Amino acid sequence: MKLLAFNGSPRKKWNTAQLLEHALEGAESEGAKTKLYHLYDLDFTGCISCFACKRIGGKRYGHCAVKDDLAPILEKIEKADAILIGSPIYLGITTGVTRCFLERLIYPYLVYDAERSSLFPKKIKTAFIYTAGATEDMVKEMGMDRNAKGTEMVMERTFGSCESFFVTDTLQFDDYSKFVATRFDTEAKKKRHEEQFPLDCKKAYKLGARLVRKEK
Ligand SMILES: Cc1cc2nc3c(=O)[nH]c(=O)nc-3n(C[C@H](O)[C@H](O)[C@H](O)COP(=O)(O)O)c2cc1C
Repeated sequence: MKLLAFNGSPRKKWNTAQLLEHALEGAESEGAKTKLYHLYDLDFTGCISCFACKRIGGKRYGHCAVKDDLAPILEKIEKADAILIGSPIYLGITTGVTRCFLERLIYPYLVYDAERSSLFPKKIKTAFIYTAGATEDMVKEMGMDRNAKGTEMVMERTFGSCESFFVTDTLQFDDYSKFVATRFDTEAKKKRHEEQFPLDCKKAYKLGARLVRKEK
């Protein structure tokens, strides 16, 4: 089993990256091979609307024709058994870079037919880990969970299955005293990071294991 994971945060050691690392450990505990890509290391764009992936009889039908750092990775995804995408919430949805990745990942497989068919060659498990500075209540109030649900539905249709895990009320700065952030209760944030974040990492570990476990 091979799990490919993608970090959609510009930070390589913070909340999203740490949760992804735990998920990969969980997958490895089940014997899977794993690889983590940091999307911000790659030079790529979102879909450029060339429609080569939709052209009847076209050489790139069902595949993205854009040649950049993402092209070889999209090929590797076709051989993977599971995909995990981690992203912070930026202005209510994934980071822009994650969105660019999703456009290139999903759109070539999406067929404009009545059945809404998918050209992805097999059924695989996929999942998202979202991190948000907002509390769970605010995530709901501001519709961030609804945005995630929409993405989840498209992923399900394209790849077979998808689940989303929200980690909320994250620690955003090492030292809140250095930033204008009076809205936050610094001590409460730190306490939550010490007490809740390790539990969230355990959940991420289990999520990783679940993604690569064969159904009995
Ligand atoms: C540009 C920007 C926009 C953000 N927008 C939101 C938001 O809309 N809702 C939210 O809950 N958190 C928001 N945050 C906070 C991040 O989602 C949160 O700190 C997250 O855990 C960061 O992930 P990281 O630690 O892996 O970088 C934003 C942060 C940045 C830098």
